[in-house]
Amino acid sequence: MKKIFVLLLCLLHLASFGFVNGSLVEKEKIGIFELKKGDISLKVTNWGASIMSLVIPDKNGKLGDVVLGYDSVKEYTNDSTYFGATVGRVANRIGGAQFTLNRHHYKLVANEGNNTLHGGSRGFSDVIWKVKRYQREGPSPTVTFTYHSFDGEEGFPGDLLATVSYILTGKNQLVIIMKAKALNKPTPVNLANHAYWNIGNQNSGNILNEVIQIFGSKITIVDNKLIPTGTFASVKGTPYDFLKPQIIGTRINQLAKTKGYDINYVLDGEKGKNIKLAAKVFDKKSGRTLELYTNAPGLQFYTGNYIMDVKGKNGHVYQAHAGLCLESQAFPDSVNHPDFPSTIVTPEKPYKHYMLFKFSAKSH
Ligand SMILES: *[C@@H]1O[C@H](CO)[C@@H](O)[C@H](O)[C@H]1NC(C)=O
Ligand SMILES: *[C@@H]1O[C@H](CO)[C@@H](O)[C@H](O)[C@H]1NC(C)=O
Repeated sequence: MKKIFVLLLCLLHLASFGFVNGSLVEKEKIGIFELKKGDISLKVTNWGASIMSLVIPDKNGKLGDVVLGYDSVKEYTNDSTYFGATVGRVANRIGGAQFTLNRHHYKLVANEGNNTLHGGSRGFSDVIWKVKRYQREGPSPTVTFTYHSFDGEEGFPGDLLATVSYILTGKNQLVIIMKAKALNKPTPVNLANHAYWNIGNQNSGNILNEVIQIFGSKITIVDNKLIPTGTFASVKGTPYDFLKPQIIGTRINQLAKTKGYDINYVLDGEKGKNIKLAAKVFDKKSGRTLELYTNAPGLQFYTGNYIMDVKGKNGHVYQAHAGLCLESQAFPDSVNHPDFPSTIVTPEKPYKHYMLFKFSAKSH
């Protein structure tokens, strides 16, 4: 009896392996994982380690979903807007789809003109992650995904083990921890979460009437292909100044070239403190506030400028500015700018990116 059981287990084990690109790899199923704690609930999928929904109360205690997305995982596999996704190996743009590291020249897959965007044409947002841990309820509901990126994937050097954990904690708080370990070669790493937030509810229209405060007094100036020139500029006197709370839509028309905000802020932080408040969003109608704390040096603020006729949850169609992205991360194209904080991860120096999203709601 025991022998038959072991044999059965072996067969089941074999069945979960398959051939991809000629090599034997473990085939992981795509699934949906839900975390619940008090009033807050989060749905994620291991396709792209993506957030599918986050439901939280408004000022009247009414629950609503504040993340743009789709109803089914199948739709995520055909997404081109990076809804909710974990982007990598290197989020944001790498100019000319190339870099030199330790005298080796690396040519990457270009997927936005001549540049690489969000890790190439099949970045971390377009792969199946393994489920390492799943605890649905309790004091700290958690789901942890891992992805083993191979040497040469999209042109990047070395094997890399990436981990993303979603944790519900405290009262209406979401923690995301992204880690990466280079297994054999140094490589640039920049992982970011690409959720489109609309704290007024995902189907409430656009975010132009929401108020934002961004704790960055400088931005990285970019060329007309959105690649940093290497210089920084003060936000003073520009539409990028959100040091004091401002309505998002007030000055957005001054940014005709990018059709809205799509820029990296240098986060100010406090001297000697690793974790800083990066941004605060407030929506008057729902009374909801979102605060993002992070250890990342930068924050890409993107107002969903290129969303057009995207058929989302429950048939709702998203248009430009339907949501906003708060992508805490390293500065874009850091690997080609020695003056920027380094994104190089080595076997001795692992990567860790911490994000805390604090939600609250009250009548003002
Ligand atoms: C896949 O996405 C494209 C837009 O990017 C859309 O036109 C098409 O209908 C989608 N296909 C499916 C099966 O959802
Ligand atoms: C890519 O680079 C080549 C050579 O510099 C240039 O001719 C071409 O216009 C560029 N393409 C885009 C889409 O920027």
